[in-house]
Amino acid sequence: MKTKRRAPAKRRGPTRSMRAAMAALAREARERAQAPYSRFRVGAALKTRTGEIVTGCNIENASYGLSMCAERVAVFKAVSEGLDDFDAIAVVADSKRLTPPCGPCRQILWEYCGDIVVHMVDMKGRSRTLSLSALLPMPFDGGHL
Ligand code: THU
Repeated sequence: MKTKRRAPAKRRGPTRSMRAAMAALAREARERAQAPYSRFRVGAALKTRTGEIVTGCNIENASYGLSMCAERVAVFKAVSEGLDDFDAIAVVADSKRLTPPCGPCRQILWEYCGDIVVHMVDMKGRSRTLSLSALLPMPFDGGHL
């Protein structure tokens, strides 16, 4: 009998159930968003290849430009705790169209996480999963310096 060969494990992103777990944590983090100015609450959950998950929410400021996105909060928390080797991030927001990371977040994610899986989810549970390289083609990075 023929055995079906699967794609090499390293190329596969997180499983469907892992993505759901990440989305649930991102949704919980979103509850802690500090967004009195935009009223747009975002949660993120960043995962290492070994399974640690660090969350973030957006944190705004009366000096609007100081506001920080959920994704960057998650990355900076994780990096400051000594974590690395990330493979996926979930982003949860309540919007008609799924919320992808903004441009600056894509750049930060690229630098600290590389070509990770970006799992975007809304409050109705609709989702889409893309690679960061699809969201940030031709990135600028340390290799250019
Ligand atoms: N925001 C995020 O936290 N992540 C995104 O992916 C998009 C935007 C925040 C920034 C600001 O606090 C609010 O959403 C409106 O832009």
